[in-house]
Amino acid sequence: MLRLLWHRLNFLCAWQLWQQHAPSNARLHFVSVEKYPLSHADLSQALALWPELTQQSQALLAHYQQICPGWHRLSFDQCRINLTLIIGDAVESLQQLRGKVDAWFLDGFAPSRNPEMWQPALFAAMARLSHHNNLYNHTTFATFTSAGVVKRGLAAAGFKVNKVAGHGRKREMLCGYYVPATVPQTSPNITFTETKTKPVTDKRAIVVGGGIAGAASSAALAQRGWQVTLIEQQPQLATQASGNPLGVLYPKLARQDVPLGRLSLLAYLHSLRLLASLGLSPEHHARCGMLQLAYDEQEWQRCQAILQRNLPHELLHWVDQQQSSAIAGLPMDFPALYFPEAGWVRPQAYCQALCASENIQLKLDSKVIRLQRAADSPTAVWQAWGEQGLLAEAPVVILANANDAMRLAPNAQLPLEPVRGQITRLQAPESAAALRTLLCTDGYISPAISGEYCLGATFSPEDNSSEYRPLDDASNLAMLARMAPALHQQLQDQVITGRAAVRCTSRIICLWSVS
Ligand SMILES: C[S@@+](CC[C@H](N)C(=O)[O-])C[C@H]1O[C@@H](n2cnc3c(N)ncnc32)[C@H](O)[C@@H]1O
Repeated sequence: MLRLLWHRLNFLCAWQLWQQHAPSNARLHFVSVEKYPLSHADLSQALALWPELTQQSQALLAHYQQICPGWHRLSFDQCRINLTLIIGDAVESLQQLRGKVDAWFLDGFAPSRNPEMWQPALFAAMARLSHHNNLYNHTTFATFTSAGVVKRGLAAAGFKVNKVAGHGRKREMLCGYYVPATVPQTSPNITFTETKTKPVTDKRAIVVGGGIAGAASSAALAQRGWQVTLIEQQPQLATQASGNPLGVLYPKLARQDVPLGRLSLLAYLHSLRLLASLGLSPEHHARCGMLQLAYDEQEWQRCQAILQRNLPHELLHWVDQQQSSAIAGLPMDFPALYFPEAGWVRPQAYCQALCASENIQLKLDSKVIRLQRAADSPTAVWQAWGEQGLLAEAPVVILANANDAMRLAPNAQLPLEPVRGQITRLQAPESAAALRTLLCTDGYISPAISGEYCLGATFSPEDNSSEYRPLDDASNLAMLARMAPALHQQLQDQVITGRAAVRCTSRIICLWSVS
């Protein structure tokens, strides 16, 4: 079920009604567009006016952190309630949205005060996203305003508009529904290229590969009621490219708000929310903060450009050399951009937690040697075959087995590239103060965890080897020397060993230019 509106109170009321009236297996998907998001403090103050919604308000406020431009997914009540919170302009955002909306709640200030929002392009986007083929399930709308511009705009876009009695101080309001057969001749910008997707009835999937990508895909499907068979060739989850002793969590931001940087930022925020919901223990996950050190003129300029983007203070802020030393717990040589919520996670514990669902069946120690369509199946389900015979069959297969995906899908011409990476494990000297945060530049060093640092990682495109190379340790230490000379002095003779693995990357075509 998909809903759309401007958020906060409408969302909380819809959520409460859903809890009271919807079948227990029904999911509410609520999309909310907001151009000027409230701060956490202001939202908290505003929501305190409705004590009857305290349970929902508290849950929303717990997730409403580091809100910045872009699309955020917030899930509640074991993913029964899902909010896609889009921070951006309504017209621009709706033009990028795909899917079908069951009900529109329009609440974006009166047209007399906010004329730029109530334009034909908004109504056109609403028409495109409404149901077209379902004569029995009309998309409805309701709005507090009865202004003529809204009435005429909605009607021109194909909505049946009714004026009805309003609530409270509003004498009248508008409500109605989208009329599927009406192709609005007056709106040439609307193109009705709706793809007809069949409703999914057979919710079974095979996921090949038990690293972070495979475990996260399995968890996302399992939450939606799919039965997943996760097949992994090793006896445990997360042993190869996801098999480092720890993974670090921070976004890679660009000077400007370019798509790759935005993806990294929103993925970072999503991962933090996901990790919070998994409740990992402090040995497996910590938000220790991260200092991105401005160690030369170019890095300093980049940090300054990022600061100009006015991202929320709780997401990142500038700290001088003295402050960065205080945060790190030992002398730092440079000022830094500080990300207080960044941290690290043990990938194996992370994958195990993601896969702890009764909807996920793990097949470890099982290598898929070929995928094929079942010859006798009318729905052409996929079969995953191993050395010993059939491992699983399902209508959907997800390949999350890194570069080996190219072997299982040779005709798909997957644009994948191997990139070797090696991390270096370092003994934390007992005589010296231990680093308390992550440090990063073009590489990273973890805080000292159980007496050990993790420093990494090398980046060697088109190198398929996962042998350990002492030369790569030297390259990691050289990176440490650039960003934290004093810490390098302390750690340069403390190498325990290294660990190499081969990442799977996809080629990125650069479609934008960054000056
Ligand atoms: C009357 S308030 C909505 C209250 C909300 N329905 C609730 O339940 O709490 C109007 C909201 O529309 C937002 N807004 C105004 N113009 C917008 C635009 N062009 N795009 C997205 N949001 C906009 C405002 O920032 C404001 O939060």
